[in-house]
Amino acid sequence: MNQFKRHRRLRSSKEMRELVQETTIDINKLIYPLFVIEGENIKKEIPSMPGLYQMSLDYLELELKELDDLGLRKIILFGIPKVKDEVGSEAFHKEGIIQRATQLIKRNYSDFLVIADTCICQYTTSGHCGIYKDGKILNDESLKIHNLVALSQAAAGVDIVAPSSMMDGFVSSIRTALDHNGFENTPIMSYGVKYSSAFYGPFRDAAENAPSNGGTRDSYQMNPANRLEALRELKSDTEEGADFIIVKPALAYLDIIRDLKNRSYLPIVAYQVSGEYSMVKAAAMNGWIEEKKVIEEILISTFRAGADAIITYFAKDYVKWQKGIL
Ligand code: PBG
Repeated sequence: MNQFKRHRRLRSSKEMRELVQETTIDINKLIYPLFVIEGENIKKEIPSMPGLYQMSLDYLELELKELDDLGLRKIILFGIPKVKDEVGSEAFHKEGIIQRATQLIKRNYSDFLVIADTCICQYTTSGHCGIYKDGKILNDESLKIHNLVALSQAAAGVDIVAPSSMMDGFVSSIRTALDHNGFENTPIMSYGVKYSSAFYGPFRDAAENAPSNGGTRDSYQMNPANRLEALRELKSDTEEGADFIIVKPALAYLDIIRDLKNRSYLPIVAYQVSGEYSMVKAAAMNGWIEEKKVIEEILISTFRAGADAIITYFAKDYVKWQKGIL
C-alpha cells in the first residue's frame, strides 16, 4: 500500500533536517545601517529603535572597531546635518557629515564596504526627498541636486551610492553624472522599489526626516497595493543602468522580492526597515516572542523569498548571537 507520501522521513532528525535545509543565512550578505550626526561626544539612543544610536564621528570610530571585530564590514550610512535648507545643501557639501564619515572610515578601515544613502530628506527644511515648491515635489530639478549628492559621496570615497528619492530618472541621471566625472566604477544600488510605508515611522525619529506639515510621500513612493508597478520600476531602473535593486520594506513585501528575483539578472537587496525592527524589539522586550528565533526566521524568510542581500538593523545582534557573544 502506497497511497500517501511520507514527508516526515526527511524531518526525522536534526541531521536529516540539516541535510535538506534549502536556505541559510549568510552573514556576508548582511548590511548594517548607521546614523551619523554632526557634533561631538554624541551617542543618543533612538527611542523607538532600542539598541540603535545617532552617533557623532568620535563614537563612530568605536562602533567601527566593534563591527570590524565582528567581521561585519558592509554598512549603509545615513547623515543628520547641523542645518537644513530648501535644497539640502549639507547633503552635497564637501565637508558634510556623510563625506567626513566616509573619509574617516576609509582612512582607518579601508576594507569596509561603504554604501551611502543618496537622498536629501534629512537635509531639506521640507523633509521631502526632492525639491519642494508650492505644494509639489519637482522631479527634474531634484535630479540635478541628487547628482551633486552622488558626486560628492563618490569623491569622498563611498563604494556604492544608493539613491532613494524615487524621482523618475534618478538612476540614469546619476549614472551619467558619475560617468562624466571619472566615477564610472562606482555602482548604483537603486531604491527602485520603495513603497510609501508606515513601517518607516521609527526611522523618521532616527534620521529626523519626516515630511513637514503632516505631508506624505505618496506622490513619489509606491502604493503598497501595487505589484505590476514594481515590475515597471525594475525595468526602467535596469535599463537606466542600476547595479542593484532594493525592495523596501521587506517583510510585508516578500511577494515583490520574489517577483523581482524571478525576472531580474541584477542582485536584489531587501531593506528590512525601522518599523520591522521596532515591532520585533517591542514584542521581545515584553517577553511576548522569542527574539532570536523570530529574527532568524525573518532573515531566512527574506533570503528564501529571493533577496541576495539584506539591509538590516538586526545584523549586529545576529552576528553576535552566531559568535556566542550575546
Ligand atoms: C528616505 C528614506 C526612508 C528611509 C530611509 N531613507 C523612508 C522615508 O522616510 O520615507 C526609511 C528606512 C527605515 O525605515 O528603516 N530617503
